[in-house]
Amino acid sequence: MGMWTKALSGLTTGLVIAVWATETIAARAADKTPQLHALPPLQEQADIVDSWTEERKVLIPGLLRKYGVDAWLMSQREYAEDTVFWALKDAVQFSARRRTTHLFLASPKNGAKNSYSWIDNTAGVWEDLRKLFAEQQLLKPRTIALNTHPEIAFASGLHAGELDTISSALGDEWADRFVLEPMLPVEVVATMVPSRLPWYRRMQETAWAIIEEAFSEKVIVPGKTTALELEWWMREKIQSLNYTTWFQPGVYILTAEGFPLKKERTASRNELRASADRPIQHGDLIHTDFGVTALGLNTDTQHLGYVLYPGETEADIPKGMIEGLKKVNRLQDIVKGNMKIGLTGNKILRASLAQMRDEGIEGKIYCHPTGEWGHSAGTVIGMTNLQDGVPILGEMPLLKDTYYSIELFAEHFVPERNQTLFFPQEEDVYWDANTESWEWVYGRQEKFLLISTPAEDASENPSEL
Ligand SMILES: *[C@@H]1O[C@H](CO)[C@@H](O)[C@H](O)[C@H]1NC(C)=O
Ligand SMILES: *[C@@H]1O[C@H](CO)[C@@H](O)[C@H](O)[C@H]1NC(C)=O
Repeated sequence: MGMWTKALSGLTTGLVIAVWATETIAARAADKTPQLHALPPLQEQADIVDSWTEERKVLIPGLLRKYGVDAWLMSQREYAEDTVFWALKDAVQFSARRRTTHLFLASPKNGAKNSYSWIDNTAGVWEDLRKLFAEQQLLKPRTIALNTHPEIAFASGLHAGELDTISSALGDEWADRFVLEPMLPVEVVATMVPSRLPWYRRMQETAWAIIEEAFSEKVIVPGKTTALELEWWMREKIQSLNYTTWFQPGVYILTAEGFPLKKERTASRNELRASADRPIQHGDLIHTDFGVTALGLNTDTQHLGYVLYPGETEADIPKGMIEGLKKVNRLQDIVKGNMKIGLTGNKILRASLAQMRDEGIEGKIYCHPTGEWGHSAGTVIGMTNLQDGVPILGEMPLLKDTYYSIELFAEHFVPERNQTLFFPQEEDVYWDANTESWEWVYGRQEKFLLISTPAEDASENPSEL
């Protein structure tokens, strides 16, 4: 049993480990190089993930009571899974099989259990369900929640055909009690049990380490290496570590033409690539949007690098750029400070934007939950194209015990360039139940990653300048 498996054996142990890790790794983030973390053998990974899933499942009856529903029914056929299926499955399940049906009860009576699962391809499952419901006479489930929301992905995983089947198979007596409580599936998926944190932090450190290596002279040869090559280098690096990812890494050379926002990236990626895919040059401000996936967890990070001219040192970074990074660091603090549990994402967005403008900062805020999925369940705090509020997704309350990506940019006029540049950043935070505050999972970027080349290069390769 490895050290991390032991950490999972109880909540208290998990918290102790988390506190220990906070101190040591926070110190490391400030003055040491982030390290790559190898994953344990597959069987051990499965044990770790299953123990997290068990901790999550234990929370479900309480969440049913919190949202005032007596029962929660989820049903799916192989390859047409409910979105929530992935948060509850065993590590060795790769899809639903036949018809896979889950029932959770808030307060079971008559010796019933809190949860039931069927894998069946006959009408037996419906007979069992009707019988179970009927046996709950004292309770008589008044409400049976189904995941049928028209807009929220995590609350809308019940396929239309499956709903038809359930309704007719259970009959009006039970179908009349079907209700929609979107926050129930949202909170089940969004909740990150404390024992996940030590591994999430290691994954975060690994993501930082990959970015740090990519944005260094070990990988970038100024005048030669292109952004596109760097993106594929990052993909290969992820692969070599036996991690995977949930989106293609993005590497961008930032210019006054603006920062390629996500919407535009998908709309005209080829066009963007054509302009971005020139060799990275001395004096370039470069940016990456990068995440890794392992153990059913996903990270999301954006960092900046600066390509020094030959022979230059940290002291030669244009002051305007250093100010730009400071400004976006300040914007991170503003958003973190406004992320009050229970407020809607839209309220947090408006308060943060107001404070940002009060402090004379121009920028955009577009934060999202992360962890179980890269863009996970829960309220969003702005989107790049919706800075006045996000319908529906921004109207949910902010939940505690979740992970968020603080994703945003600040604009800053860089006198040395005579240009206003965008300074994007993205860092993941977790809700710390002890301090009742959002804390960086690994840290945040306060210094540019530097690509330096020796002075001799200037005379050897004058064409590069
Ligand atoms: C990746 O997996 C292979 C095969 O199990 C293993 O030999 C190798 O050591 C792993 N690499 C890392 C960095 O964990
Ligand atoms: C700075 O840019 C502005 C407009 O973009 C231009 O009018 C001005 O001449 C530039 N200043 C210098 C010193 O190049």
